[in-house]
Amino acid sequence: MKLFDVYPLFDIVPVSAKGCTITDDHGVEYLDLYGGHAVISVGHSHPVYVKKLTDQLNKIGFYSNSVQNPMQDELALKLGELTGYPDYALFLCNSGAEANENALKLASFHTGKARIIAFEKSFHGRTSAAVAVTDNPKIISPLNDTVNRTFLPLNDVPALETALQAGDVAAVIVEGIQGIGGCRVPEPAFLEAASALCKKYGAILILDEIQSGYGRSGKFFAHQYANIQPDIISVAKGMGNGFPIGGILINPELKPWSGMLGTTFGGNYLACAAGIAVLDIMKTENLVENALEVGNYLLSKVAEIPQIKEIRGKGLMIGLEFDFPIAAIRKQLLFDEKIFTGVTGTHTIRILPPLILNKDQVDHFIDALLRVLKKL
Ligand SMILES: Cc1ncc(COP(=O)(O)O)c(C=O)c1O
Repeated sequence: MKLFDVYPLFDIVPVSAKGCTITDDHGVEYLDLYGGHAVISVGHSHPVYVKKLTDQLNKIGFYSNSVQNPMQDELALKLGELTGYPDYALFLCNSGAEANENALKLASFHTGKARIIAFEKSFHGRTSAAVAVTDNPKIISPLNDTVNRTFLPLNDVPALETALQAGDVAAVIVEGIQGIGGCRVPEPAFLEAASALCKKYGAILILDEIQSGYGRSGKFFAHQYANIQPDIISVAKGMGNGFPIGGILINPELKPWSGMLGTTFGGNYLACAAGIAVLDIMKTENLVENALEVGNYLLSKVAEIPQIKEIRGKGLMIGLEFDFPIAAIRKQLLFDEKIFTGVTGTHTIRILPPLILNKDQVDHFIDALLRVLKKL
């Protein structure tokens, strides 16, 4: 059997990784400024993370959500503490798309309505409703296209109010910082207006923090740059540092009933061990603060490079838009300079490193980028 050929692949075979370094099968080391798509939060193979997972595997790896699992409570407690949402409830699942799927479903259950408002350039995942509210017709199948949704320009308050006035909206879903959209940051005033308008018209505000959350923006959640408390916050990626886990944080006004949501694998022991280890490491190593400090340092350095037309993002979620296609830059960074970076569209490089990145590694990247730009 062959693999279903859906991913364009670089010809690199990573075999080990530590901190911000990936090593391939020829022993070549790469600086990881991509984090496997914003997933690696506490660094590759962090010893506390590795020990927690291996210890857990030696005890019990899996049982279903039909028995008590105190590790889920521990994870929820620690997440509530670190995020500043101690009174919210946590529903655990396995991926970002699944988190948004459950967030949208919960909003629809709660309001009894079915229309969703999302924003241009959004990406919310590839499952049924999540992909339907993703602004990319190429990945929406006819089946997904049946969801009732409206795309609006980001930061357009009057357009949002007009759409909400119809009274049929279950939820407004917005990324804390648009990831695949190119590290576009919603204006705090827009999020504050969206929050007030959702309350006024009885819609649920969902903040998709799957990419921008878990400290990446320099705050635990990117929306915490605004003065809002969303009804639902979706998380995944950095939550498990590579172990598949996702979840939604739910305002206590949204009430559960038995059987309302469910999943076989969600909140299993290994996922909880990964999630708890990540939170413990983030707390003891002050990784949210590090993301802010090192991110600001990186922002100050790239600001000096004239070929970069626009710099977007916050913390360690940074988009560098050039006047020209960046495919060659990215390739040279990877194969000549041994640095992994991300990309979005044809003109933007995305920097999404582990949150433990230090300033020396930033300097190394800047020197490499300048060398590559000189060769063009
Ligand atoms: C903002 C955002 N939402 C949702 C998702 C989907 O997450 P997953 O790939 O884990 O389903 C992604 C993935 O890139 C994302 O960036």
